[in-house]
Amino acid sequence: MVHVSQHPLVRHKVALLRDVNTAPCDFRNLVGELAQLLFFEATADLELTRITVKTPLAECAADVIWQNVGIVPILRAGLGMAEAMLRVLPKACVWHLGLFRDHSTHQPIAYYNKLPPEPNIDVGYVVDPMLATGGSASAAVAILKNWGLKKIRFIGLIAAPEGVAVMRDEHPDVPIYLAALDSHLDENKYIVPGLGDAGDRQFGT
Ligand code: PRP
Ligand code: URA
Repeated sequence: MVHVSQHPLVRHKVALLRDVNTAPCDFRNLVGELAQLLFFEATADLELTRITVKTPLAECAADVIWQNVGIVPILRAGLGMAEAMLRVLPKACVWHLGLFRDHSTHQPIAYYNKLPPEPNIDVGYVVDPMLATGGSASAAVAILKNWGLKKIRFIGLIAAPEGVAVMRDEHPDVPIYLAALDSHLDENKYIVPGLGDAGDRQFGT
C-alpha cells in the first residue's frame, strides 16, 4: 500500500519545504510538522483498549492505545521527523539506525544500530524524509525484520518512483506513507524535483 497524502496542509507545507530559499530553521520546522501530519495518517490502525477515567465531574469510559510503538529514524535526516512524532506520542520509544548512502555506489552503508536483542515494540515506523533509490529504507526494514519485528510501516516526505518500486518489490508487506511522489531520480540518484539533500538542509551542513 502506498499512501500519498492529499491533505491541503501537507501539500502546502511540501511547497515550502521544496523551496530553495527556505532556511534550515524553517526547513527543520516543516520537516517536523509534515512528520506529525503523516504520523497522524499512518497510525489510523493503532489498536485501543477501553479504560475508565475520572474527569472533574464524573467517571467515564475512554480509549487509549495499548500497542508499544517504536519510531525508527534513519540517521541523520530522519532525526527531525522522529523528534516531532515523539511530541505526538511521547510514550513511543526511538530506535536509531545509522545508514548513509555511499556517494559513488549509492548503496547504503550501515554504521549505527542500538536495537536491543529482542523486539520490545508491537509496531515500528521507519522514518526518513527521502526515499530515493530505496536502498536505505529497504536496508532499514530488513534490519528490523531480522530483529524479529513483524509490523513495520515506512513514513517518508518525498519519494521517487524507483524507490517505491524497490520497497514494493522487497517489502510488499510494509505500507508506505508519503507527502509527495516525484518524477524520477537524476544521474546522481537525487529526487527530481525533490528538495535537495534533506540532511544538509536540516542541519545547515
Ligand atoms: C539520504 C536520505 C536517505 C537516503 C535516501 O541520506 O536521508 O537516508 O539518502 O536515499 P536512497 O533511497 O537512495 O537510499 P544520506 O545518505 O544523504 O545520509 P544523511 O541523512 O546522513 O545525510
Ligand atoms: N537523499 C537526499 O537527501 N535527497 C535526495 O534527493 C536523494 C537522497
